[in-house]
Amino acid sequence: MSKRVLSGTKPTGDLLHLGNYFGALKQFVLLQDEYKDALYFIADYHSMTTVRDGSLRRRYTANVALDYLGAGIDPDRAILFRQSDIPEVCELTWMLTTVTPMGMLERAHAYKAAKDQAKNVDHGLFTYPVLMAADILLYGADIVPVGQDQKQHVEMTRDMAQRFNHAYDCEALVLPEPYIMEDTALVPGTDGRKMSKSYDNTIQMFAPKKALKKSIMGIQTDSTPVEDPKDPEASIFQVWNLFATPVEREEMADRASRGGLGYGDVKKELLERVLDYFGPMRERRESYASRPDEVEEILVLGAERARAIAEVVLEGCRQASGLGRPS
Ligand code: ADP
Ligand code: TRP
Repeated sequence: MSKRVLSGTKPTGDLLHLGNYFGALKQFVLLQDEYKDALYFIADYHSMTTVRDGSLRRRYTANVALDYLGAGIDPDRAILFRQSDIPEVCELTWMLTTVTPMGMLERAHAYKAAKDQAKNVDHGLFTYPVLMAADILLYGADIVPVGQDQKQHVEMTRDMAQRFNHAYDCEALVLPEPYIMEDTALVPGTDGRKMSKSYDNTIQMFAPKKALKKSIMGIQTDSTPVEDPKDPEASIFQVWNLFATPVEREEMADRASRGGLGYGDVKKELLERVLDYFGPMRERRESYASRPDEVEEILVLGAERARAIAEVVLEGCRQASGLGRPS
């Protein structure tokens, strides 16, 4: 399809977990084949609302690049870049702030949550949705794959684009569509809640075998005796299912409801499957990690390709709104 797909990942931690992979990254990889143009970036400006250490930011940024590449983003097909290599996004952010009502930002989930928890809210967090809108609009993206939690931001983006186009009676900005990645159900964490780094309940896809074993063995299960039937919906099975074919899932559900199945055995099998599944990706990631100059070059080339798109869109906005040299 000739539509353009774009998404970003915040560099805020070290290793990705199964939720990030099945909920986002896996689909980014599939979409790069489905659409002619795919842009994926590392949202390092966005990470400034939480990460206040420059060397840590660099490390996290390098990790996201490796995660993207390891998971199968192909730099020859998709444009992979670092957000801050195109500071023009800040200019578009400014333009968009001038058509964004305060009320819209006050309704944003992240801001409301921070305010409800009586956290100190800085202007960056408040304006976060505008920067995210600029990310999307600067590259004329049609489709934005995001988790359910980000849907509101894409809707706000549409709203801002519409307001800008209307204000200057132009079509400088393309209205994007959210593509909600919910066909993969929410991945449960080791404690049964949503897997999230903020709950400390993650299974990390690239963790070494020992650490992986520890988190998988730590998946909480009930105390049903081995011989009794088990609930095939229990979170251990939900995680196991991610690594199984539909037929295998049915067989497992059958084994669970018949009884005689020990959770320990399921966990052992799960560990093997996780290792097999991510093995080739881990190798690819390690291979890139040993060639940091090449990764840097990929990002620099990606930024060049992204900038070529951004320049046209930004100039359209400048001309429409009467900024800079008249053309
Ligand atoms: P975390 O909750 O660990 O901080 P993020 O909010 O950084 O994760 O999420 C990054 C991406 O991964 C988002 O697109 C989000 O929808 C997806 N994601 C995160 N956790 C899960 C999960 N448990 N199940 C499915 N998708 C998830
Ligand atoms: N806000 C997104 C998140 O927290 C990351 C992000 C920043 C993004 N800019 C984007 C996602 C543009 C899609 C498009 O996950």
